[in-house]
Amino acid sequence: MEKVVSGIRPTGNLHLGNYFGAVKSFVKMQDDYDCLFFVADWHSLTTHPKPEDIRQSVKTVMAEYLACGIDPNKASIYVQSDVKEVLELYLYFNMNAYLGELERVTSFKEKVRKQPDNVNAGLLTYPTLMAADILMHKADKVPVGKDQEQNMEMARLFARRFNRIYDVEYFKEPESFHFSDKAIKIPGLDGSGKMGKSEGNCIYLFDDEKTITKKVMKAVTDSGPTVPNQEKPDVIQNLFTIMEVVSDKSTLDYFNDKWNSCEIRYGDMKKQLAADICSLLAPIRERILEFRSNDEYLERVAREGAEHAHESAAKTIQEVREIIGFHG
Ligand code: TRP
Repeated sequence: MEKVVSGIRPTGNLHLGNYFGAVKSFVKMQDDYDCLFFVADWHSLTTHPKPEDIRQSVKTVMAEYLACGIDPNKASIYVQSDVKEVLELYLYFNMNAYLGELERVTSFKEKVRKQPDNVNAGLLTYPTLMAADILMHKADKVPVGKDQEQNMEMARLFARRFNRIYDVEYFKEPESFHFSDKAIKIPGLDGSGKMGKSEGNCIYLFDDEKTITKKVMKAVTDSGPTVPNQEKPDVIQNLFTIMEVVSDKSTLDYFNDKWNSCEIRYGDMKKQLAADICSLLAPIRERILEFRSNDEYLERVAREGAEHAHESAAKTIQEVREIIGFHG
C-alpha cells in the first residue's frame, strides 16, 4: 500500500479552511493508503520558541483530528517529538543543505520579514526537518496545500542529493498530493483572502453557535448588486464560496437567483450561512470536547501512532547510517 505522510503545526485551533482543505482529504485517504498524520510540535518552535503549553496544544490538535473523522484504527496519529529518529535524519540532511538555497525559500523570507528579531537556524532549516519527516517514512504522497510546494521541492532535492552523494538509489522522491483547488481556498470573512490562523478571519471548528453567528453576521459585504447577473465582487463571492461547501445546493441556488435578480438581502444570506455552518460544526464540536476530556485515550492514540511511526523511522536510520558509513 502506498504511504502517505502529513503534518500540522500545533499553533492554533483548526478552522473551516483546514477542515475543507486538509482534514477532509486526510479522512478520505485513510481508507486507501497507509497514512501517518503527525503533529509537528518541533516545527512550531521555529515561530513559537516558548510555547505556552505545548502538550495541551498538541492534545487539542489530536482531539480535533479525531473529531473530524481520522480513525486511529485506519491511520496512525503521532507527535513529531515522540519519534526521535527524525532528528538524526535532519542532521544528515542539514550537512548537505546549503545556506544559499535555504535562504531563497519564500516562506523563510516571509518569516524574516515577520519576525526580524528571531531569524533562527530552525527557521532556516525548516525544509530539512520537513524533508526528514517525509523521507524517514519513504512517503509516496504528501497531502499539503499549495503554499508547501517549495518545501516539497526541497524534500525531493534532498532525496536526490543524498542518493547522488552516497551513490545509492535509496530515497525516492515524494509526490505532493494537492487537494482540489476549490477545497483549499476557503475565504476569510473579512474579504482579505484565505481563511488563515493569522488573519483573524476564521471560523474555528471549536466555535459555538453564538460565536459562529456573530462572526458570519459581521462578514464584510457591499451595498448590493445594481445590474442583473452582474459579476460578484470578492467579498460577496467569498460568502458564496463558503455556502457552496456548507449548504445544500437548493440554498445556494436560491441566493444565487436572488443575487442575479438584484433582490439579495445579505442579512438573510448570512443568517442561513451561519445556520448551515452551525449544523455542520455542532457535532464536530461535541466530539472535540469529548476527545479533549479523555487524556488517557489521546495518550494511547499517540503512543500507538508513535510505535507505528518508529518502525519505519528506525529502519530508515539504520540503513542511512550504513550508507554513510557509521556502524549500524
Ligand atoms: N510545513 C507544514 C505546514 O506548515 C507542516 C509540516 C511539517 C508538514 N512537516 C511536514 C507537512 C511533513 C507535510 C509533511 O503546514
